[in-house]
Amino acid sequence: MSETSQKTGRCHLLIQGGRIVDGTGGPGYTGDLAIEGDHIAAVGDLSEWRADETIDAAGLVVAPGFIDVHTHDDLAVIDDPGHEAKVSQGVTTVIGGNCGVSLAPLVPPGKLHQLFGLLGDDDRFRYPTMASYRDAVDRARPAVNIALFVGHTTLRAEAMEGDFERPATEAERTAMAERLRQAMGEGALGLSTGLDYPPARQAPTDEIIALARELKAYPDAVYVSHIRDEGEHVLDAVDETFEIGRAASRMAVVSHHKCAGKANFGRSRETLARIEQASQDQPVGLDLYPYRASSTVLAMERVKGADSVIVTGSQRHPEIAGWRLDDIAHSWQCSEEEAVERLQPAGAVYFSMDEADVERIMAYPRTMIGSDGLPSMDHPHPRLWGTFPRVLGQYVRERGIIRLEQAIHKMTGLSAETFGLHGRGVLAPGNVADVVVFDPDTITDRATFESPRQRSEGIVSVLVAGRSVWEAREPTTERPGGFLSRSH
Ligand code: ZN
Ligand code: CU
Repeated sequence: MSETSQKTGRCHLLIQGGRIVDGTGGPGYTGDLAIEGDHIAAVGDLSEWRADETIDAAGLVVAPGFIDVHTHDDLAVIDDPGHEAKVSQGVTTVIGGNCGVSLAPLVPPGKLHQLFGLLGDDDRFRYPTMASYRDAVDRARPAVNIALFVGHTTLRAEAMEGDFERPATEAERTAMAERLRQAMGEGALGLSTGLDYPPARQAPTDEIIALARELKAYPDAVYVSHIRDEGEHVLDAVDETFEIGRAASRMAVVSHHKCAGKANFGRSRETLARIEQASQDQPVGLDLYPYRASSTVLAMERVKGADSVIVTGSQRHPEIAGWRLDDIAHSWQCSEEEAVERLQPAGAVYFSMDEADVERIMAYPRTMIGSDGLPSMDHPHPRLWGTFPRVLGQYVRERGIIRLEQAIHKMTGLSAETFGLHGRGVLAPGNVADVVVFDPDTITDRATFESPRQRSEGIVSVLVAGRSVWEAREPTTERPGGFLSRSH
């Protein structure tokens, strides 16, 4: 418990009588939270304190604002600064630039690979530097904060001019390293890769290591990876991630960890053992979204490994968003291969995981929560709107897979520590007042695969830097967020 000793004080906002779950993973307790300006002034028994304004939190949980550690919100915070999909879940900070694809730094030298459609159309890539992206975010004034990774595939797009089917040359590696250094100097969190995707697949481990070594100059920098293989060769891919982290002497994070395909069900026992073993010698992390279906671009090789597939959007056939692929093929009287071909570029949901693996990975102490939501899709995977309340409703309250305090830690304190977001993630005096108040008895996700854009139930109030972005279960007009730079 991090209670303060100050018996009396004055603050602008006092959240009274809630169950304080402070983000450290320690036991919750009944108490008050004092907020002055954009910071937390005190936490504990503050019955003698005076405030300009109070919130009665009896029966509710008071926690640090959730940190969505794996997002593709790079463009969403500019296009849709209210960002209700996340604010309505209690999220106050998102981390973007994942899976090797970041919106910056990149001005496309030609037509981009369809993978970049995960973020937006080609003409939306218009930020030559991280600093120009930062300025665009700050001008848009989003409700939440965003911190960004530099995508390896983004660097490749510029340096290799779209000629991806090979390792980068020495000169291209030098150019990519230079761009990475510049972006790090302008506040990027670190380097991300998406080695399972065609535009990065031909990059050998030593290409990534050469780049990741640039992170040595920045103590808080992190390497995150959508690993080379999430199926049969998942163990090798986990090993490669940690080899790169060791070479860079930096934290290495396995993104949206899963064991995909029926043949690999149950193998999270092996992968978690491997992760635990590595953690003895080097800093490692991983994140998870709480669903047994994945979502990314539509590709036949992924369709083959899935029980069923829902198309989330297609540029040429927007009218079929939300349809099952087999129904589309049936109604077009063609094979699924041909339907996939005709729908490109497109996105899809793949039912390809085992629920027991999802539960086991969630219960593992080092696992953080990240939505991996795709705001650019017409009919997105429900994780975009439902991830955090789903963990708290389904996995904590209904099924008891983890305790409430553990779940909150995986959404806040552990996340801030892993990504070097100092002064956030824990309710403690002096920290930034990013706070969520929710009802533990009713919190639940409402977004479904059929109807994915639904607000969750049970989020009562959300504060970003002491200002209210969600009140009485509705969004406000406040937008106190912005670009969050790496601390050191
Ligand atoms: Zn990914
Ligand atoms: Cu991703």
